[in-house]
Amino acid sequence: LMAEKGGYKHFMLKEIHEQPRAITDTLAGRLREEEGDVYLEDLKLSDADLSGLEKIFIIACGTSWHAGLVGKFMIEKHCRIPVEVDIASEFRYRDPIIGPNTLTVLISQSGETADTLAALREAKGKGGRAVAVCNVVESSIPRECDGVIYTHAGPEIGVASTKAFTTQLVALFLFALRLGRARGTLTAEQVREFATALATLPRKVEETLELNEQIEAIARDFMNARDFLYLGRGNQYPAALEGALKLKEISYIHAEGYPAGEMKHGPIALIDELMPVVVIATENDTFEKVVSNMEEVQARAGRVIAVTDAEGLCDKADALLVIPRIVDDLMPVLTSVPLQLLAYHIAVLKGTDVDQPRNLAKSVTVE
Ligand code: G6P
Repeated sequence: LMAEKGGYKHFMLKEIHEQPRAITDTLAGRLREEEGDVYLEDLKLSDADLSGLEKIFIIACGTSWHAGLVGKFMIEKHCRIPVEVDIASEFRYRDPIIGPNTLTVLISQSGETADTLAALREAKGKGGRAVAVCNVVESSIPRECDGVIYTHAGPEIGVASTKAFTTQLVALFLFALRLGRARGTLTAEQVREFATALATLPRKVEETLELNEQIEAIARDFMNARDFLYLGRGNQYPAALEGALKLKEISYIHAEGYPAGEMKHGPIALIDELMPVVVIATENDTFEKVVSNMEEVQARAGRVIAVTDAEGLCDKADALLVIPRIVDDLMPVLTSVPLQLLAYHIAVLKGTDVDQPRNLAKSVTVE
């Protein structure tokens, strides 16, 4: 079994470390740097189809839904088309407004999640088009879609999703670039620059993985907390949700992800020395505001674990994880990696069944 796990103690740890390779495989053959475009072999939507779109829904469950929330930022920013993200079990029962110029993007690692499949049928039944972002070739969801963007993460065994998530983010970014070219909101030159950035992503994930030992030490310091708050803003809010989900799934510690700007509207009442606050502070337009949140937590004796690409935050955090920098759209890939490792090490220290957490299934094929 150790061999099956490639020398790692758990599939989850192996899969976390496979991310540079999984991302490389998801990019392979898709970046057309000379043309300044992206090639998505199974998308099956023409430039005319893509430029005629008026609305996009992104639908998924669990971790895949978090990827969708990040995807909204990418698509709205670069393609200037409204994107609504919804949870499949909600979408399927609310009579969504879908027309011929609506595209529904279904994100599913397994391609077999019952609610996501039902949401797809709802969208298609109303005359819209549908595309899957999926990790399993020829699974049910891509089979019923008009097109598909496969993530090439390879089989994911750990119930808590890791490499499937980060490759979903990459696939969604590739889609945003293709859509932006088709709609004329991105130039070839811009896509060329993003392609160059994408090509550096596996190396930067590799570098981020080097934080492993530091994260293990942080896990020791914080493993006895009963509750964690995760804060992020903009495209890092979904990364905060995903970090909190990883922790609760495998360590059984209650954790809540929150948009940092909302802290003062509730969660701040919970902060004391017993509740660690994981803050994602990437250097973008809202960086200073997130740093103020860190100060507010510390002023209430809360302990801050910060994930950042910025320098000079030493006195603002009790534990500081400094990650590499890449274009802002891709920063959630890099911030997710230390949060996966933090959840992993806390779970291992608590002695839970990391790969097969209680009550959870890898793929939920019943409603
Ligand atoms: C289950 C798994 C999660 C996964 C979710 C959606 O809850 O435990 O890890 O994110 O299903 O699965 P999908 O295969 O549709 O991405």
